[in-house]
Amino acid sequence: MKIIRTTDYEGMSDAAFAAVKEAVLADPKATLGLATGSTPLGLYKRMIADHAAAGTSYREIKTVNLDEYVSLPADHPQSYAYFMRKNLFDGLDIDPANTHIASGTADPGEECVRYNILLEALPRDLQILGIGSNGHIAFNEPGTPFGSVTHLVALAESTIRDNSRLFEKAEDVPRYAITMGLSNIMHAKRILILASGENKKRAVSGLVKGPVTEDLPASILRLHPDCTLIVDEAAASLL
Ligand code: PGA
Repeated sequence: MKIIRTTDYEGMSDAAFAAVKEAVLADPKATLGLATGSTPLGLYKRMIADHAAAGTSYREIKTVNLDEYVSLPADHPQSYAYFMRKNLFDGLDIDPANTHIASGTADPGEECVRYNILLEALPRDLQILGIGSNGHIAFNEPGTPFGSVTHLVALAESTIRDNSRLFEKAEDVPRYAITMGLSNIMHAKRILILASGENKKRAVSGLVKGPVTEDLPASILRLHPDCTLIVDEAAASLL
């Protein structure tokens, strides 16, 4: 795994943006795997600003998202579908029909099957990932089999706690999600995993230096042939 160390969140976002822009210019029909959460927001702001200033086009880019909360409709302000529209898609010239995210309101079993078929039809050229403080990637919580594909997951207590900052009350955080599996993630041709802040330092240390184990789902990335970790000083402080 290649590691790019930056001073802070802004530097991490700059490095991630440079890689995404290069991928989009190299192949204007590329498929990007996208993530939600606080981590990629700086990257998404840069993509929107660059689209406005330099005209980088996403007209033929396709996207697939990692996960979605079960029970939240796509127009719910805490749904990941809404997050992606507000924080990225509405600011680009991307065709909404080319943006894919699992439905939080469809029958979960059927939706997992549908999403897996979609992922097979849309292999990702570049996958963006964040990392949970417990080492999860997407909503693949500790203990998820490395061979997993899209599945329904009961969120870990630590994830519910981490994500409750985005909801009015911790009780409002959905308890279930649909997530791309670890095997789906590993099928991306290239992966960028971003980490910023003190609360990620243990997960980052495990990712870089610990054993490759299902107890730390992100550690599977060490087996990927083209994965880059972009990490700021605070998140890298145990390396
Ligand atoms: P965050 O979430 O970007 O909001 O820290 C990352 C994750 O849980 O994967």
